Amino acid sequence: MIADIEAARVAAEASIVAATTVDELRRLDAELLGKKGALASLKAGLGRLTTVDEKKEAGAALNRAVTQVESVLAERLALLGRGERDRQLAAEAIDLTEHYRASERGRAHIVTQAWQRLEDVFVGLGFQIAEGPEVETDWYNFEALNMPPSHPARSMHDTFYVDHGAPGSTVLRTHTSPVQIRVMQEIEPPIYMVMPGRVFRNETTDATHLAVFHQIEGLVIDRGITLADLAGTIEAFTKAFFGTEFGSRLRPSYFPFTEPSAEFDIRTPKGDWLELGGCGMVHPNVLRAGGLDPEEWSGFAFGFGIDRMAKERHGVGDVREMYTNDLRFIEQF
Ligand code: FA5
Repeated sequence: MIADIEAARVAAEASIVAATTVDELRRLDAELLGKKGALASLKAGLGRLTTVDEKKEAGAALNRAVTQVESVLAERLALLGRGERDRQLAAEAIDLTEHYRASERGRAHIVTQAWQRLEDVFVGLGFQIAEGPEVETDWYNFEALNMPPSHPARSMHDTFYVDHGAPGSTVLRTHTSPVQIRVMQEIEPPIYMVMPGRVFRNETTDATHLAVFHQIEGLVIDRGITLADLAGTIEAFTKAFFGTEFGSRLRPSYFPFTEPSAEFDIRTPKGDWLELGGCGMVHPNVLRAGGLDPEEWSGFAFGFGIDRMAKERHGVGDVREMYTNDLRFIEQF
């Protein structure tokens, strides 16, 4: 009997070791350790043994054999199971980098790139950033900026009116200057702020004019600010943004919200002058509209076109090119 038990155990272990799949092992489990297996039939034969000692000895040997077969089976199952899981994982793995192609990576639009770079440069010069609404009231867009309804300067801004409230009371902002007023109302001076954003003018488009474009406004309000601070800031900005080989100048001009006012030009390394935007000392009426006392505070403001800067920076011939969404053009930047 002991020899039969040993033989059954050895045979069972041999078939377990020879199995190569988890399914095969599951089948063997039922076959070898189930009711119809060799070890089970030996157990049934225990009753036929004559002495109690023989029965005890054979019973103990049978239990050991079953335990041993079970543990070999469990070991083999773990091993093959791990292998199968690894193979399954390998077969089902998705290599995400397969789906990556450099040419398909998105990028910021040329105007967004200029906008972000402008913000970076101004933050580097110590400015903070604010934004205002694109739909404005007539008061913020014009009146608070020293342009009452009868003011001739209003006709320079071909305005899109929004059908909201009293006729003519709501506009798509024609420039970022209304954000000056909003900032003055909200923040106690000293103010060192730039305000980029989208603006709208009812204009016929051409190589340098768009109906929807972008400006960045600058506002500095502090005690004892002078035109020299404005000129110095413009010069520092020009060199930081375009490069040290560029220079700047202020040319006398007129804006209702600044006094004195100037156009701000940059000098390219070739010696050409390019007009970039307007600037000047904040008009006392504008300070008052923003809730500030002109006797205590003074400041300067500037505003220039981001689209035109991107155009100049990249040597684009026509600003409209930037909005045709032609990938062959846009992917160059
Ligand atoms: C203004 O809009 C003033 N608010 C600027 C300002 C701010 C002056 C603060 C003084 C103090 P102007 O209308 O010139 O100014 O426009 C400023 C800049 O916006 C222009 O120099 C130009 O770069 C850009 N710009 C104006 N119109 C267009 C347009 N139709 N398409 C693209 N860019 C434009």
